[in-house]
Amino acid sequence: MYNTIDKLRDAQELTREEWIELIENFRGVSADSAQAQYLFAQARAVREAHYGKKVFIRGLIEISNICKNDCYYCGIRASNAKASRYRLTPSEILQCADAGYKLGFRTFVMQGGEDPFFTDEVLVDIIKAIKTKYPDCAVTLSLGERSKESYLLLRNAGADRYLLRHETASDNHYSKLHPEKMKLSTRKKCLLHLKEAGFQTGSGFMVGSPFQTTENIADDLIFLKELEPAMVGIGPFIPHNDTPFAKYSAGSVEMTIYLVALIRLMLPKALIPSTTALGTLDKNGREKGILAGANVIMPNLSPESARQKYTLYNNKLHSGAEAAEQLKMLKERINKIGYEITVERGDYLCTNTIQNH
Ligand code: 5AD
Repeated sequence: MYNTIDKLRDAQELTREEWIELIENFRGVSADSAQAQYLFAQARAVREAHYGKKVFIRGLIEISNICKNDCYYCGIRASNAKASRYRLTPSEILQCADAGYKLGFRTFVMQGGEDPFFTDEVLVDIIKAIKTKYPDCAVTLSLGERSKESYLLLRNAGADRYLLRHETASDNHYSKLHPEKMKLSTRKKCLLHLKEAGFQTGSGFMVGSPFQTTENIADDLIFLKELEPAMVGIGPFIPHNDTPFAKYSAGSVEMTIYLVALIRLMLPKALIPSTTALGTLDKNGREKGILAGANVIMPNLSPESARQKYTLYNNKLHSGAEAAEQLKMLKERINKIGYEITVERGDYLCTNTIQNH
């Protein structure tokens, strides 16, 4: 196990078999075992070599929970008649950015379901308004699959980054998580278009989603290595009561943090969030993610009423250190573990994807 970890740390690629064996081995050890502690220490060293002790923050604005897709795992899927739907107006979105700027945020993430209201025209106006008012800020979008032309328009309007998780890199597993008309090939094509449009592009997957095998995870990691995204978001699957996956159990916090650490070793410069899902399953989940090599936290800037409705899974956190207004509390918690929240934009450290602003 130690040899394989060292190989990864020394930038050597692992074979699929080595990945499978490594992940299997980690299934058998606890987070305080010597092996896990060794992995976390290596991951922290790699992350600190590039980003020091800094933890970047992103203000998350959940702009709409209206979605035309019907992903079996997601609480805001189109078929969930119990979801109480909302959409923020462009001026409400700008107000969130105003509040966020005052709190110290220099990245705004607009995330939402695939809501047809948010046409290119509507989004271009919002992006331009934010970038004009706050030229020192980065705008990240997380709005699902769109056309190549759309991505180009959004990028040209000034958006800097785009998050689109691949969810699973196996066609067969993808088809068990999504309805027939959603295809992994479409998702992959979108990711390439995003990179071509010049976005700092993020991908990722859920850990412990229904039917996920060790082989699937190995393929997710191999896919990420090949894609080389600027950002990688992973979090445990958490069931939502009003979805077809209500009865499946949640993914494991431990496996999630092992994978955060392995991804850090495999993609040393990646921006990796310690996700809300991790914080939801474990009250110290966010800290555990940072100590495993994550370097980003995304507190919630959405209006209170929206926060309660943007329920991707049961008990999704939206208060306490998860809330943007409670930045002080978050700072204290991060300081306690030896890291430091910074208000920098926090771009990916790769010259050919960073634009001059
Ligand atoms: N559990 C955990 N994560 C989920 N997501 C959606 N539904 C769930 C769930 N039930 C994640 C998906 C998506 C991101 C915005 O939220 O990976 O890409």
